[in-house]
Amino acid sequence: MSAKPTLPKAILMDVDTGVDDALAIILAHRWPGAQIVAIGTVTGNVSAAQAATNTLKTLDALGADTPVAVGASQALARAPFPPSAIHGVDGLGDAGLPAPARAPTGEHAVDQLLRLVHKRPGELSLFASGPLTNLGLALQRDPELPGLVKEVMVMGGAIVAAGNVTPVAEANIYHDPEAAALVFAADWPVTLVALDVTMRALLRSEELARLRASERPLARFVTRILPPYVAVYSQRFGFEAVTMHDPLAMALLLDPSLTLERAALDMRVETSGEMTVGMTVADRRALIGPGFDQPTHPLDIPLEVDTPRFIAMVMDALLE
Ligand code: RIB
Ligand code: CA
Repeated sequence: MSAKPTLPKAILMDVDTGVDDALAIILAHRWPGAQIVAIGTVTGNVSAAQAATNTLKTLDALGADTPVAVGASQALARAPFPPSAIHGVDGLGDAGLPAPARAPTGEHAVDQLLRLVHKRPGELSLFASGPLTNLGLALQRDPELPGLVKEVMVMGGAIVAAGNVTPVAEANIYHDPEAAALVFAADWPVTLVALDVTMRALLRSEELARLRASERPLARFVTRILPPYVAVYSQRFGFEAVTMHDPLAMALLLDPSLTLERAALDMRVETSGEMTVGMTVADRRALIGPGFDQPTHPLDIPLEVDTPRFIAMVMDALLE
């Protein structure tokens, strides 16, 4: 890739793969200096087991042997929810890809997470692009966890943007609000990459055409898995485009200089509202002036990102 080298990052991913999760995996794998140590899966876009299959297929496309562990199949305190077909029924575009060459490890994703952070205290960056159930379970199991992790990057929530499951709730938070509340309350540095920035991070017709025209193996893989996801977002927007939620969160982890404007805000998650379950409630009063209560346990929230440079980064990862 032509991107500038950055500090080495050892990343533990937690995903509900998903087309955009697959793109986040590809981005991290192709980034100089980044190492995906292991991947856990969670029920979200598809079941945790299907997400593991999809993750392994993505790793096959990359020629990578990263371990994959299946995690939580149900939210901490909620009944199972029906899968969404936004990413295709199988979560990876119903592309008829061959079965993965490997199987999941057999370890539970929460056990994998705890084992690895204890083995490498302070070294690992956690990246979560699905419901936060595995992270919530890990926090319940091990109170030492927050002190063992370098940073936590989460794709989820909506600060002032509209939700994408309900008028105010984003999918990853909505599907396990109790787990999200635990993750946001824990004493570790969390960056929350919300719909406010991801809904502006689009691959449009021009980029999609370049991918379709390419013979590069990763471009071909992505071109196969994208169509249902592109169809859903193109219908929503009224023009051909697809949203890069999870890749943007990964990009901001890999290259923090992509964030042009950020806020440090206290954040709570609605777990009981009649119309607002899963809403991320940021205390934006702190932005008005110093006379308002200032944050006591803020999350780092990107408000403006260098979208053109991010899109170039995605295209480089797929075409170079
Ligand atoms: O709201 C967008 C998020 O929900 C993304 O992580 C997508 O993969 C789905 O899980
Ligand atoms: Ca996801």
